Amino acid sequence: QRFSVFASGTGSNFDAMMQDKKIASSIVLLVCDKPGAAVIKKAQGYGVETLVLEPKRYASKQEYEKVIAEKLQDLEVEWIFLAGYMRLIGETLLSQYEGRIVNIHPSLLPDFPGKDAIGQAYRAGVSKTGVTIHYVDEGMDTGPIIAQEEIERLPEETEEQLKTRIQAVEHRLYPNVINQLMQNVTEEL
Ligand code: GRF
Repeated sequence: QRFSVFASGTGSNFDAMMQDKKIASSIVLLVCDKPGAAVIKKAQGYGVETLVLEPKRYASKQEYEKVIAEKLQDLEVEWIFLAGYMRLIGETLLSQYEGRIVNIHPSLLPDFPGKDAIGQAYRAGVSKTGVTIHYVDEGMDTGPIIAQEEIERLPEETEEQLKTRIQAVEHRLYPNVINQLMQNVTEEL
């Protein structure tokens, strides 16, 4: 299997994937929409090819995604894993990769979609939150759920501490779910 990871930020989830030998050997491209994002250097450090684009330089989302879609086709990418890609996926990529785009989100969806999900949950005073991995559709953090893991909110914990614990769950859960998905794909063949 050949994967592309889409990310806009720090890349701690990208890092976690690269710690898994099987997944690392499948990742052939990082797509990033933020020149200067830390994840780009990380990918380069691992020798993973990067495609860095600035969406505002394109006339439309369709034009922007066409460039990505062509690159994905050239590299024969079969699956896209979003890891902090702060942008909605449009029709061009959705139709080309139907059922093969997966996202991770730091809340128990459908609660707290969108930006700053950890802060949203923290401020709402929830007693538990967690991580969701789901297939991507045209909505913001919608799409069928593949896996969820809950964590309890600890009394007197700061938002930063909660974030650290959620990220630890993400870094374990995402690689596990990817491996499980690939196993299912192999069994279906
Ligand atoms: C993660 O919390 C992920 O769930 C969300 O964006 C964050 C990306 O973090 N979609 P990183 O760039 O992987 O460190």
